[in-house]
Amino acid sequence: MSSKRFLTGITTSGTPHLGNYVGSIRPSVRASLRSDVESFYFLADYHALIKIDEPARIQRSTLEIAASWLAAGLDPERVIFYRQSDVPEIAELTWLLTCVIGKGVLNRAHAYKAAVDKNTQAGDDPDTDVSAGLFMYPVLMGADILLFNAHKVPVGRDQVQHIEMARDMAHSFNHRYGEHFVAPEAEIEESVATLPGLDGRKMSKSYDNTIPLFAPREQLKKLIAGIVTDSTPPGQAKNVAGSALFQIYQAFATEAETNALRQAYADGIGWGEAKQLVFERIDREIAPMRNAYLALLDDPAKIEAILRAGAARARQLATPFMNRLRDAVGLRDLRAQAGNTAAKRAKVAKPVFKQYRERDGKFYFKLLGADSRLLLQSAGFASPRQAGQSIALLQTQGTSALAALADQLQPIAEVDSRDISAALQLLSAPECG
Ligand code: TRP
Repeated sequence: MSSKRFLTGITTSGTPHLGNYVGSIRPSVRASLRSDVESFYFLADYHALIKIDEPARIQRSTLEIAASWLAAGLDPERVIFYRQSDVPEIAELTWLLTCVIGKGVLNRAHAYKAAVDKNTQAGDDPDTDVSAGLFMYPVLMGADILLFNAHKVPVGRDQVQHIEMARDMAHSFNHRYGEHFVAPEAEIEESVATLPGLDGRKMSKSYDNTIPLFAPREQLKKLIAGIVTDSTPPGQAKNVAGSALFQIYQAFATEAETNALRQAYADGIGWGEAKQLVFERIDREIAPMRNAYLALLDDPAKIEAILRAGAARARQLATPFMNRLRDAVGLRDLRAQAGNTAAKRAKVAKPVFKQYRERDGKFYFKLLGADSRLLLQSAGFASPRQAGQSIALLQTQGTSALAALADQLQPIAEVDSRDISAALQLLSAPECG
């Protein structure tokens, strides 16, 4: 077995903030240093189009997120680092997966459902302002993951449903076309999914409560000073439970440092002083990266070259795999067709029961073998239901039902009872995928 493959994407729809760093960038860079994993990191710019229709913002965000990852220590030699839209196989696979996932499954996707619920509550048409892109979001994400047969996808809680849908698509596709995909698993970072923002709610672009990862030192200080606290005065003990400031500190500090701050809270540290401490601690980790980040932003050609080289490596895997998938579903070179199909058909052919009505108004059934030979022929039944019941008996009880049904079956010359029993056995065998 080859090593485990990890895959992570970040949507290029904004400027990375501390929540992205703690929740995604930092752990994924750490994971990339492990020698037993093969990692894929990409900029999900197709996903960004779902939310953003300002081209300049997409471009800027792609640059910023790529620079953030590199500044945080991602080594593009060690991992496969690419831009989603540089790998056209992702879009192509999206269509194949679209054709195997139920529409009803997508109806239940959280992001789509939230939009529908909001419209419904406002008394609008459920799909008002909902693009088909939003609806298809999980399929595109499934293609991201399945194209590289990733085993593990490190994500926050909110993305778990998407990974389940990717598993669903993998299974449906494999069931129809043979084993091609690995069913991916979410790797949930519980602790980091919940970095609070300025107002204490989860740090998120949609709450407008973020602290940009590479804000200049002065701005970082100001923002941290603005984190919500209660009004406990200096000298009075403070609660760490529910303190956004404490939680943010914890995400950067060692255990000993965290314990020291916990003690300081108990001892009544003033909020101003606590904020200064948190600021210095975060800046200590960020400052060296900030310099690298600013240098990278000044050299977009370098980032462009890194991403293109990454996409070339990604496509070394994706292109041949996509060719196999095209073949699997029947998008094939016509010259390769002749001869194969008949052989395949014979292999998958099964015995069948056929029900029909004769001119006498009665209902009949017959059993045909895999080779279409007549094995059983019923007498006439008054209703299709009675015929169906006899078939059901044969399907569930096999040859042991033959005696009970003797009156309702017509003898057929030259049929060996072993052939009948073999056919019935084949019919009761569970469907294999
Ligand atoms: N949906 C993810 C997010 O918003 C981004 C993403 C797109 C992703 N494709 C992915 C994450 C594939 C993991 C794997 O954060």
